[in-house]
This record gives sequence, C-alpha cells and structure tokens, in this order.
Amino acid sequence: MAENITPEEYLKIITDASNSVKSRIEAEKQLSNPRVMIICGSGLGGIADQLHSEPRIEIPYPEIPGFKESTVPGHAGKLLFGLIGPKKVPVMCMLGRLHFYEGYTFQETTLPVRLASKLNIETVVVTNAAGGTNPGFKSGDLMVISDHINFPGLAGYHPLRGPNLSEFGTRFQPLSDAYDFELRKLFFNKARHELKLTRTIHEGTYLFAAGPTFETRAEVRMIRMLGGDAVGMSTVPEVIVARHCNMRVMALSLITNTAVGEEPPSAFEENPKPLDEGMASHAEVLETADEASKDVQKIIEAVVNEL
Ligand code: HPA
Repeated sequence: MAENITPEEYLKIITDASNSVKSRIEAEKQLSNPRVMIICGSGLGGIADQLHSEPRIEIPYPEIPGFKESTVPGHAGKLLFGLIGPKKVPVMCMLGRLHFYEGYTFQETTLPVRLASKLNIETVVVTNAAGGTNPGFKSGDLMVISDHINFPGLAGYHPLRGPNLSEFGTRFQPLSDAYDFELRKLFFNKARHELKLTRTIHEGTYLFAAGPTFETRAEVRMIRMLGGDAVGMSTVPEVIVARHCNMRVMALSLITNTAVGEEPPSAFEENPKPLDEGMASHAEVLETADEASKDVQKIIEAVVNEL
C-alpha cells in the first residue's frame, strides 16, 4: 500500500478486508458480532489464553486481503475471534500488531482498527510493552494510559494525514479525552478492589517514538522533560484511528524496562561506570512481559467482561 494511496483505494481495501473476515465469522453465531477489539502487545499474546476454548476462529493475516505480516518476535500474526469472561463477551484479538518501524505505512498498521469499525466494534483495548521514563516506575509495573504524545505526529508522520475518510470521522479529530475515563475507572476498580492485585499500577502519559532503536540517554531525558512517563513504538496510531472511528479506547502499558536517562560515563573519568548498565533489549522486554502477563490477562478479562 503506497503512502499516497487515494481514499477510494484505501476504502476498497478496508471493505475487502472486512468482507473477507465477515464471511469467515458469520457462520458462528456467537462470534459474528464481536463487541471489543483487544490488541496484544509484545509478549502479551497470552491474553488469548483467557478466551473460552470454543468457539474460536483464527484468521492468519496472510489470509486477509490488504493485511501485512507481523515480522516481530513475540507477535503471532493472526486475528482470533472468541468469547471472554463469565459473560462470554465476543471479542476480536489482534495477536501481533503491525508497527511503523517494520516499514509499513500508517494506513497498513491501522487497517485492523478500520476493519474493527466496519465490524461495528465499539471498544478497543490496547496493550503494549513500554520503557518507563518516569523515574518512579520500575520494571513489571503497569500504567493505564491517560494521555499521549504523538512525537512523529507532531512532525508530520500522522495516521490521519491525507484526505479525510469522512465516512469514519471528522477532519479535525479532538484527542483531549482520547482515553475513556469510565474505562480507566473500571480498570482500577477491577484491579484493586476485585482482583486485589499487588502489582503497582500507575496512570500516565505514553510517548510514541517511531523506533526501532531504543532511546538514547539524552532522548530519555528529553521525553521526561516533555512529560512522557513511558515510551514505546506502537499504540498511538491505533488509538488515533480508533478515536477517528468514534470507538472507546482503553490502553495499558506494561513497563518492561526502565529507560536509562543518566549522562553516559565520561571517558575523561578515572573510574567510569560500565557502559552497558541498564541497556534496554528486546529479550528483557519479552522476559518481563512473560512474568507479568498472567496479571495483565486477568485484568483484561475482568474489564472486558463488563463491556
Ligand atoms: N523504548 C521504546 N519502546 C519500548 C521500550 C523502550 O524502552 N521498551 C519496550 N518497548
């Protein structure tokens, strides 16, 4: 999909994708009208384990017209339709998201959200792995996102750039209340009062950096100055498109590493600190996600059960 694709061409891609998916799910009555989209972040695909074992329908991305393949380790690359929680809420799980840094355009990375809108899904629950830039955050903490900084977006790399898709939403989409207040309250109630989780839960601002490199120390200090509590390479484009489609959004970051913002060791010092202290790695991201994923799964189930 070229960057300068026309709205007509993009709308056709969205329609083809949704027709293809509809034809696969309509035979299974309980799954044919999913209510919630759940986007599973790095290492958080275990959310799928919360779905009832049947009925389930799996559709690998290559079988959906217009969908790109997920190329990142820890991202499976399929849509999974199933039921979640005691109330058996029908959901569409995105197992393996598509990132801008993989070389995909924003139209490609957010196509699944447009598809969800075409399926009349009204709520999107987004999860991600993120680096903690707030000095008070530690690895394994959770952060409910209450606001974001679209860093590439402010410089012109924006998912809504180009002619407006007016059948979905408005040209000048407000984002001051992008992260649904009631859903955030529901999350805290479930996590604290019902599930009584002891894991630390923050609320804060997520800064979207295009990646794929992890941030330099100077960039981490800049993100702190800008008010970013956590930094990651996803979520914001999907949230913006979901809001453009008038879907309600809840988003959750699992802090998989604490971003290093201290000055690098000076080569002029007699006994400099070791260079690799605190260096971020994808292996660390997946390890922390694996360790914390059970809690994330439980909360997502409890929240989605009420939707
Ligand atoms: N930076 C950006 N993205 C991330 C990080 C990070 O430190 N950790 C997990 N995703």
